[in-house]
Amino acid sequence: MASCLASVVAGVGSFLPPRVVRNGDPPLSGLDTTEDWIRTRTGIERRHWVEPGTSTGDLAVEAGRAALRSAGDPVVDLVVLATTTPDHHSPGTAPWVAARLGLGTVPAFDIAAACSGFTYGMAVGDAWIRSGSAECVLVLAAETLSTITDPTDRGTAVVFADGAGAAVLRGGDSGEPGAVQAVLLGSDGTRKDLAVVNAGGSRHPDPEGAAALADRCLRMRGPDMFAHAVRRMTEVSRLLLARLEWPVDSVGAFIGHQANQRILDKVADLVGVPATSRFANIRDVGNTSSASIPLVMDDLVKTGTVPCGARTLLTAFGGGAVWGAIGLTWPDLKPAV
Ligand code: COA
Repeated sequence: MASCLASVVAGVGSFLPPRVVRNGDPPLSGLDTTEDWIRTRTGIERRHWVEPGTSTGDLAVEAGRAALRSAGDPVVDLVVLATTTPDHHSPGTAPWVAARLGLGTVPAFDIAAACSGFTYGMAVGDAWIRSGSAECVLVLAAETLSTITDPTDRGTAVVFADGAGAAVLRGGDSGEPGAVQAVLLGSDGTRKDLAVVNAGGSRHPDPEGAAALADRCLRMRGPDMFAHAVRRMTEVSRLLLARLEWPVDSVGAFIGHQANQRILDKVADLVGVPATSRFANIRDVGNTSSASIPLVMDDLVKTGTVPCGARTLLTAFGGGAVWGAIGLTWPDLKPAV
């Protein structure tokens, strides 16, 4: 394939809040569930939750700082922040994060694409770079899902978690390690019932704070969500591989949105991804929505697990419903010291 202008991953970073909640810890220990059920049905053994007062923006600043350091502290000319849990309804969280990172008056905005937020953010960064509108983009994905989780709902409290990940994209050549090769996104708004926070938005404002806890928190139709996540991530992954003409056994790294280990296994099995190319850390971090893919990427950079240039497939599915897939080659990154 002839080389051309591409966006290239020049740095990654992540941050987890220090508080660790194990399956047997409160408040999960007070639910009608067991440590074994959570581990075997979701793959999760522990997750990180923020302490009261710590916001999504706070986590994004830390992840962004790490990613910028990993990229050699370049001049950034766009910041996008994917999140389901912004610091405020208004204004967006991205400008505050950009300011805290010392990036001046750079354009900065939020992206609401639920668990697919990182793929949507990468798509935006890739398009800005390839159109010549930006030379370097900081893509952040950060969540404090514990702030919108009903601690009495065993269907969500055991899975959702907090964390942040980030990638720096710069202009480069499609033949370089780390170059984005293809992006595919999709949505189906007829299934917005799959995962929704009912109260507090313009459709059901809650100015008195009178709505029931369940309506102020994320409600999920777990089994429905499971089925749609498997279907959409499988479809979009197959389409992406076909578009790139990548045989599935040539994929060196497959990173799917970490909603549930069983979903990841099912998608990887259906697509036919070799067992040695499947990477996840859901056991230690839970479902961190948009942050889950860059959290894995950063772990893999830190451990030097994936060879530079390896064909890499990212895919995600989230509430909305929204989904996406990105094909890239594994970047040439050294762990930050
Ligand atoms: N502990 C014990 N039992 C539980 C439980 C828990 N935490 N959660 C549900 N159950 C029960 C259910 O009540 C049900 O019992 P029943 O058979 O007596 O009715 C049984 O376990 C199976 O419930 P189900 O909801 O089918 O469980 P599941 O295996 O689908 O696991 C989720 C529930 C939420 C973990 C799973 O559906 C899931 O991961 N869904 C997808 C999430 C997703 O894709 N998110 C993407 C964007 S965030």
